Amino acid sequence: MGIENTDDAGVYKLRDDLAIIQTLDFFTPIVDDPFTFGQIAVANSLSDVYAMGGKPLTAMNIICFPINKMDISILREVLLGGLDKMREAGVLLVGGHSVEDDELKYGLSVTGTIHPDRVLLNRGARAGDALVLTKPLGTGIINTALKGNMAGDDLVAQSIRCMAELNKKAADLMIEYSNIHACTDVTGFGLLGHASEMIEGTDVGMVIHSSSVPVFHEIQAFVEMGIMPGGLNRNRKFRMDMIEVGPDCPEWIVDVLFDPQTSGGLLISLPLKEAEDLVKRMHDDGLEKASIIGEVVTKPKGKILIL
Ligand code: CO
Ligand code: CO
Repeated sequence: MGIENTDDAGVYKLRDDLAIIQTLDFFTPIVDDPFTFGQIAVANSLSDVYAMGGKPLTAMNIICFPINKMDISILREVLLGGLDKMREAGVLLVGGHSVEDDELKYGLSVTGTIHPDRVLLNRGARAGDALVLTKPLGTGIINTALKGNMAGDDLVAQSIRCMAELNKKAADLMIEYSNIHACTDVTGFGLLGHASEMIEGTDVGMVIHSSSVPVFHEIQAFVEMGIMPGGLNRNRKFRMDMIEVGPDCPEWIVDVLFDPQTSGGLLISLPLKEAEDLVKRMHDDGLEKASIIGEVVTKPKGKILIL
């Protein structure tokens, strides 16, 4: 599987019982603290392997650094933050490459393994499935508020903790279930962008219960003040023709559902009974925001209805 589909990572079958997963991600800082940025960048880079049900094994650093403008100690902190997360994930750093650039950028190229029969795609959701989301939404909006000095320390700390959290625990629990029909991670396209990819061109649709979607506190106020990242509007414009908004759904929540996430949670489609069990186990394991946010339906086909 490669670039012909929109899946989270490439998968190459080596043997009947073994395939490798490869993915690459890097970006510019979204927080001021270099160590924290390193942690978030690595959590984000590893996420696509988890979303496909795989186990990340090795990684290589990708670094762009303005060596003439920035102190080298900043780079050291970024790399230490990254290493910290790799250690937590049980991933071995085996190399990397750095270039001089105007702007700091950091991320990883990751290699993982998976059984070829156990690859989780972002397609395959079935009518009757429930949709589980494992992290709250709103990190893009909070990052924008932070740039304008509008976000409180508490909220920023929560958002950072969320972005730096590996999807490992969620994935470890998820892969114990044999009936996972589809999975992806929620990143730049926002929840609705990635949910749209799950159903585009298929014969199912989705219903999302907006009041069940986990969202950070204070997000409503930011949205109503117009504090939103540019990517949010692009996401909405790109996918709005697949979205139907019910009369009782508050307007602000639709914006949040399009908020681009950095290192967001997993979106998992599986039968309702198993979804209830999975969410309960996630709560027991400290993933307290994991929630069933909707279901997969036969009508409206190819659309997402937000109630
Ligand atoms: Co992804
Ligand atoms: Co990616």
